[in-house]
Amino acid sequence: MRIAMISPEVTPFAKTGGLADVAGTLAVALEHLGHEVSLVMPAYRCVLRGGFALEGTSMRFSVPLAERNEEGAVLKAGLGKNITVYLVRADRYFDRDSLYGTSAGDYPDNAERFVFFSRAALEILRHNPVDIAHCHDWQSALAIVFLKSQAERYPELASSHTVFTAHNLGFQGIFGQSEWPLLDLDRIYFSPQYLEFHSHVNFLKGALVFADKITTVSPTYAREILGAEQGFGLEEVLQGRADDVVGILNGVDYGQWDPAVDPWIAERYTESNLTAKRSCKRGLQGALGLPARDKTPLLGMVSRLTSQKGFDLVEKIFDQLMARDLQMAILGSGEERYEEFFRRAAKRFPKKVGVRVGFDEALAHQIEAGADVFLMPSLYEPCGLNQMFSLKYGTIPVVRAVGGLKDTVEDCDPEQETGTGFVFGPYEPEALMAAVERALQSYGDKKAWTALRRRAMSMDFSWERSADAYSNLYQQLRS
Ligand code: ADP
Ligand code: GLC
Repeated sequence: MRIAMISPEVTPFAKTGGLADVAGTLAVALEHLGHEVSLVMPAYRCVLRGGFALEGTSMRFSVPLAERNEEGAVLKAGLGKNITVYLVRADRYFDRDSLYGTSAGDYPDNAERFVFFSRAALEILRHNPVDIAHCHDWQSALAIVFLKSQAERYPELASSHTVFTAHNLGFQGIFGQSEWPLLDLDRIYFSPQYLEFHSHVNFLKGALVFADKITTVSPTYAREILGAEQGFGLEEVLQGRADDVVGILNGVDYGQWDPAVDPWIAERYTESNLTAKRSCKRGLQGALGLPARDKTPLLGMVSRLTSQKGFDLVEKIFDQLMARDLQMAILGSGEERYEEFFRRAAKRFPKKVGVRVGFDEALAHQIEAGADVFLMPSLYEPCGLNQMFSLKYGTIPVVRAVGGLKDTVEDCDPEQETGTGFVFGPYEPEALMAAVERALQSYGDKKAWTALRRRAMSMDFSWERSADAYSNLYQQLRS
C-alpha cells in the first residue's frame, strides 16, 4: 500500500515528545512490511539548520487561508531505506526557535500555522496520491477534515482512506471562533455536530468526526477516553465512533534504545553482563555532579514537566524521599513551576538530587542506563515510551496503572517471582510512596533485584507487532 504519515514531529528531524519517535519509527516499520511510505512534516528551523541532507524540489503550492492565498515550497529528505520525507517550507510560519511556542506560551498564530500545514500536506499528496493518509494529533487533524468535507478540491485523492491517531486528548487545538475563517470551510461545519466545541473551533474534534478510523496508542487508553475523566470533553464524540476506535500499543525503536548498542552510555551491557550498568551509574552521577555511590539507589525521571506526568505527587513525597538514602536524576523541561521546584531541590540537596532543565538526548539515554529505578507516576498516559525504554535497560519502572503504563508494566510479586516493575493505583502521594518503598525494599535484596532486572530486560515491545496491527487496519479500510 501507499501510505503517507502526516505528523507535526518526526524523529530525528524534530521532536518534543513521544509522537516524534512514533511517527518516525512506525514509518520505517511499515516500510519493512513492504509498504511504500512517505512522511509529511513542517520544515522547522531545527530541520533547516540541523545538518540533515535536504534536497530542494520544484514543487510550489498555494492554499486558501481566510480571504487570501498563502504560498509554500517543499523540501525532501530521506529516512529508512526509501522513505521520502516531504518538508513543508514556509519560513514565516516554521523558521522559529521552537515548534509550538516559547516558555511564555503557544505562538499566537498556531491556528494559522497548522491550517496552512494541513492544506499543504494535501497539496503534496495530490502530486503523490496514496491509499492511506494517516494523520497524527491536532496539528494535522484538519487534513482529514479538508479531504472529507471538500472532496471536490482533491480529486486525485478520491480513493484515499484516512486514519487519525490521537496521541494525547489533552491537546486538541482549540481556538477562538474568530479563527474560523482561516479554515475556508462551509459555515455548516461550525456546529456542535462537527468542529464547534463550546463556541470554539476544535481541530482534533474535526478529525474524530471525519476520519475513517481512529486509533490511539494503547488498548487501555482507547477504553479510558470513552469516559468523562479521560475524554477531555470529547468522550461523547468518541462514544459515537466507538466501533472505529482502536488502541494499538506503541513500540520501541531498539536500534536507538537498547543498552547493548547505545552509543550515548558509559558502557554497553546486556542481561548477562549487568555489572557494566555500574559504570553507567557512575557516569550519570558524574554528569549531574552527584557523588559516586554504587550502593545508593538512584531514581531517574525524563519527562516533559507538566501535570500530566504526575509531578504534583513527586513534589508531595519529595521530603519523604529526601529522608532516605537515595539519589535522584531528573531531566525535563516544561512548566515553569516544576522547573523551579527541581532547580531549588538540586540546590537544597546537592549530593542527592541532580537536575538538568532542558532537552538533552544524550542525558535521556544516560538516565535510562544509569538509574536503578525509573519514576512515571502519570496522572494519565496514552502510552508512554520511557517505561518501555526503562524495562530494556533493566531500570525498574515505578508507574501508575493508567493507559499504556498499565499495558506494559506488570506489578512485581516477590513471592511468586513475577512482574517487571512496581504499579500503584490511586493518584495519591501515599500510593506513590508505597510503590517506591516496595522498589527500595526489593533493591535491597540483591538476588531478587537481579532476577527482576532480567525479567524486565526480557520484555519485547518492538515495532513489528504494532506495525502489523496498523497494516491490518489499513487493509480493512481498503476491502
Ligand atoms: P510524551 O510524548 O507524553 O512526552 P513519551 O513517554 O511518549 O511521553 O515520550 C517522551 C519522549 O521524549 C521520550 O523519547 C523521552 O526520552 C523524550 N524526552 C522527554 N523529555 C526529554 C528531555 N527533556 N530531554 C530529552 N528527551 C526527552
Ligand atoms: C503522547 C503521550 C504519550 C505517548 C506519545 C506517543 O505525547 O503523552 O503517552 O507515548 O504521545 O504516542
